[in-house]
Amino acid sequence: MQVAIDGPAGSGKSTVAKLVAERLGFLYIDTGAMYRALTLKAMREGLPLDDEDQIAELLERTRLELKSGPQTRVFLDGEDVSEAIRLPDVNRGVSAVAALGKVRQGLVMLQQEMAKGHVVMDGRDIGTVVLPQAEVKVFLTASLKERARRRALELQSRGIEVSQEEAEAQLALRDKLDESREIGPLKKADDAYLLDTTDLTIGQVVEEILSLCKKAMEA
Ligand code: DC
Repeated sequence: MQVAIDGPAGSGKSTVAKLVAERLGFLYIDTGAMYRALTLKAMREGLPLDDEDQIAELLERTRLELKSGPQTRVFLDGEDVSEAIRLPDVNRGVSAVAALGKVRQGLVMLQQEMAKGHVVMDGRDIGTVVLPQAEVKVFLTASLKERARRRALELQSRGIEVSQEEAEAQLALRDKLDESREIGPLKKADDAYLLDTTDLTIGQVVEEILSLCKKAMEA
């Protein structure tokens, strides 16, 4: 069984998807982490982030691994980059890399490979492109204000100070880039269940998705 969770930055996808995977005993795959890790490597090598051929070639010589479990970890060529990929520089650069067609092609193939068993996968194009046949599809949203509040808190908890206004501006920009790109844009699949999390707790969102999974399993 496949559970696809999509939505804009700060909608709570990763937190919720991870908890749903834990409750179901499924593998959790954070596809955003893959775009982020590749972006980090490109930045370290000083490559222009909008150069499709160079970044696609970089992907070919890159090993990306995700470890699921109570502590999800991301490995870039064997190095644990779980913290480094959340830094503001990567936040700012990742949409450019995610807009490159050849890069998306490569990562989508890799993600489809990884999704062979029971999985919960989160991203932007999971329900539309990566796993169009997923039994459960959810599109999470929340108001921009609430998403910015969550993002600012998350960054502060890691010692990075950003104001709510700054977080709001960064999220709005990333949403715009993610929604407007030609290939695999951020978009709700027609058959995805729309869930607005603005006034819901994490626990409520998890329960709602689990009940969709239960229905799908019964069907
Ligand atoms: O979910 P996230 O914020 O970690 O994602 C980081 C970026 O990667 C996001 O700005 C868009 C991109 N992304 C994508 O284009 N497709 C995916 N399936 C997942 C993420």
